[in-house]
Amino acid sequence: MISRKSFLKLTALGGLVPFKKWASSSSSSFSGKVNKPVVISTWNHGIEANKAAWNVLADNGSALDAVEAGVRVTEADPDVRTVGLGGRPDRDGFVTLDACIMDHNQRCGSVGALQHIVHPVSVARQVKEETPHVMLVGEGALDFALSQGFEKTDLLTEESKNDWREWKKEAEYNPEVNVENHDTIGMLALDKQGNLSGACTTSGTAWKMHGRVGDSPLIGSGLFVDNAVGAAAGTGVGEEVIRICGSHLVVENMRRGDSPEEACKRAVQRIVQNNDSVDGIQVGFIAINKQGQVGGYSIQQGFDYAVHDQSDNQLVDSASLR
Ligand code: GLY
Repeated sequence: MISRKSFLKLTALGGLVPFKKWASSSSSSFSGKVNKPVVISTWNHGIEANKAAWNVLADNGSALDAVEAGVRVTEADPDVRTVGLGGRPDRDGFVTLDACIMDHNQRCGSVGALQHIVHPVSVARQVKEETPHVMLVGEGALDFALSQGFEKTDLLTEESKNDWREWKKEAEYNPEVNVENHDTIGMLALDKQGNLSGACTTSGTAWKMHGRVGDSPLIGSGLFVDNAVGAAAGTGVGEEVIRICGSHLVVENMRRGDSPEEACKRAVQRIVQNNDSVDGIQVGFIAINKQGQVGGYSIQQGFDYAVHDQSDNQLVDSASLR
């Protein structure tokens, strides 16, 4: 993995890492070719997810199909303990999943507190395409998923069950930065047609209260797409993202002229203003604009995101406040 510091250094030196047309740290000015297709996703599990998304984009597929295909990789991976199958359960031992998806026409679908389904993002897409609604939760979401042919699966793996038993000895809810907060995969893509879409999926914070829903399935909080401007996704402590309508705020910042990184930074600063202390709180955002420039920003160090364009699929340490 290349650190942000070494990435910048190498870039400045014109060294191993060439100037990235997608990197936009401080300016929204743009005079060049649109960098498309491109896909960006949160955390290191984004590398594998990006590969699946890229296959769709490179084949002239839509950003919508790409982000769904991408995050499905993470949802199905039992070793990713914060998304989909194998996700850590709530404090009562139930794995409950949140997800949403949004396209370039601002059509969106979402599911909250969904149990027993490996691919909540695909259920969210069905909500978008097969119902007059945006969001279904709990039993209703499960009933809908089953009616659409999704199979019921036990999502609680032995590893997560063991973690839960261990946690119950102390039973304290105190999400650890970049570990139990190392949660969501948010993915944003710009396709060859120049259209944007995004998806976001998670098992939420480990040991949450049963019935708790975080930011990830909430359009405007965990994800927002405006095809005229850009798209954004959030990760970290969902309650903090919800309080500021985080992803919507990031997109609105870009509308006013911020680069993707600046837009994410301003949203992070809003969270900091809301709290006496952000010790122990991690939130990160990623963003993309219509030119295919991308960026990210987090409160604490340790957040990273994966970017796949024509030249490579690279993990980048996010800029951060601390
Ligand atoms: N950001 C995911 C959650 O808080 O559930």
